[in-house]
Amino acid sequence: MRALGISASPREHSNSRAYLAFALKELAERGVETEMVDLRGLMIDECQACYSCAKTKECAVKDDFQGVFARMMEADAILVAYPVYHASEPAKLKALMDRAGFLGRWTANDLAAGQGSGGYQWKGTAFSGKIGTPIAVARRAGHAFAFAQTLLWFTVNDFIVTGSHYWNVGVAGKGGAVNPEDDQEAYGILSHQAENIAALLKKLKA
Ligand SMILES: Cc1cc2nc3c(=O)[nH]c(=O)nc-3n(C[C@H](O)[C@H](O)[C@H](O)COP(=O)(O)O)c2cc1C
Repeated sequence: MRALGISASPREHSNSRAYLAFALKELAERGVETEMVDLRGLMIDECQACYSCAKTKECAVKDDFQGVFARMMEADAILVAYPVYHASEPAKLKALMDRAGFLGRWTANDLAAGQGSGGYQWKGTAFSGKIGTPIAVARRAGHAFAFAQTLLWFTVNDFIVTGSHYWNVGVAGKGGAVNPEDDQEAYGILSHQAENIAALLKKLKA
């Protein structure tokens, strides 16, 4: 049982990373192997829409994406934590999602065969059967939209999405502060989220 946390704040000291670290700790306490990949400092360019991944099953843009995608492939559960920017995911995370989603689609499917039969015949994606959940962090508003944005990515890519007793959102960062402890409710939400992920992983791996 392996969980990968992807931290998508560009800041060295970050609220979203703090919530993610807590969620991973809760998973580790429930017997899940965890690791975190921090997008901070990594170069992940935007999807070029070249469609070469549909033919070669690899991304033509060579940067830090390949390393992150490999770790995503090894994980049974992926948690993505990020600051909300203008009610959306931050740009580097969006670039990762675009490239990982498209590559994951074409590593599991054949574009030519789909067209020849007059339509797509999807056989899942490279993410099929993995568990996914977002953690969206904002100072005041826009969590729900950004959270939904990431949920759409998880669900179109054939993830199994787990819930908690509330959305995984943290309220922190007024004026650039790093104050995740001000939202203790978020810790409770993430603790129960970890409980659900660990329980589901145990069933899936049984
Ligand atoms: C470019 C930018 C856009 C932001 N947009 C929002 C927003 O739409 N809603 C909000 O409540 N906070 C917004 N914030 C505040 C951050 O979401 C908040 O400070 C968050 O805690 C930062 O997470 P981090 O500490 O992990 O980087 C924005 C911050 C930046 C830098």
